[in-house]
Amino acid sequence: MADAPVIAIDGPGGSGKGTISRRLALDLGWHWLDSGALYRLTAVAAAIGGVPLTRAADVARVAAGLDVRFVPGAGGDQVLLAGRDVSAEIRSEEAGSGASIVAVMPAVRAALVDRQRAFRRPPGLVADGRDMGTVIFPDASLKVFLTADLAERARRRHKQLSEKGIDVSLAALLRDMAERDERDTARSAAPLR
Ligand code: C5P
Repeated sequence: MADAPVIAIDGPGGSGKGTISRRLALDLGWHWLDSGALYRLTAVAAAIGGVPLTRAADVARVAAGLDVRFVPGAGGDQVLLAGRDVSAEIRSEEAGSGASIVAVMPAVRAALVDRQRAFRRPPGLVADGRDMGTVIFPDASLKVFLTADLAERARRRHKQLSEKGIDVSLAALLRDMAERDERDTARSAAPLR
């Protein structure tokens, strides 16, 4: 359904695009795509299958074969990987780091393109990611680039994690997010722009 309108919201981690895109989708009654979840799922599924993140061709096969179901809920989607609830697992910092490593691989990105475009259905789609407006939905009716200071994004992520009872130092988080920003921006395949 290429005719359904798309609102693309791209930006770095911790900028608030997840919260905003989900609320917007709820308000409009549109579908929602959390594209980062697919990269996180690929990293988690690779770990479960014992596939090292250094082997791009094998990781791409994992991405292509993801058996995933998103069950919409008020607080966000429940994410089922081969029937197993991995909603919490994919939100960990480890999954986020793994995601940004596999996201550099062109074969992995290619394996996830059709799966992302399949979310475009009437009445419309709000898509959250890094390359929604540049690569996946270049004809989006509205393209938003949402960002904030690294320090502010790290503070926000820290608060989110603390609320979930996950204890991580702000300094470590800052370092990790800076590293991830660098990988997302410097990569040649669909860099954050
Ligand atoms: O947005 P989120 O933090 O869940 O994304 C995790 C990682 O997945 C990002 O750091 C980025 O490397 C990658 N990603 C991407 N393209 C997207 C969405 C996420 O490369 N459209």
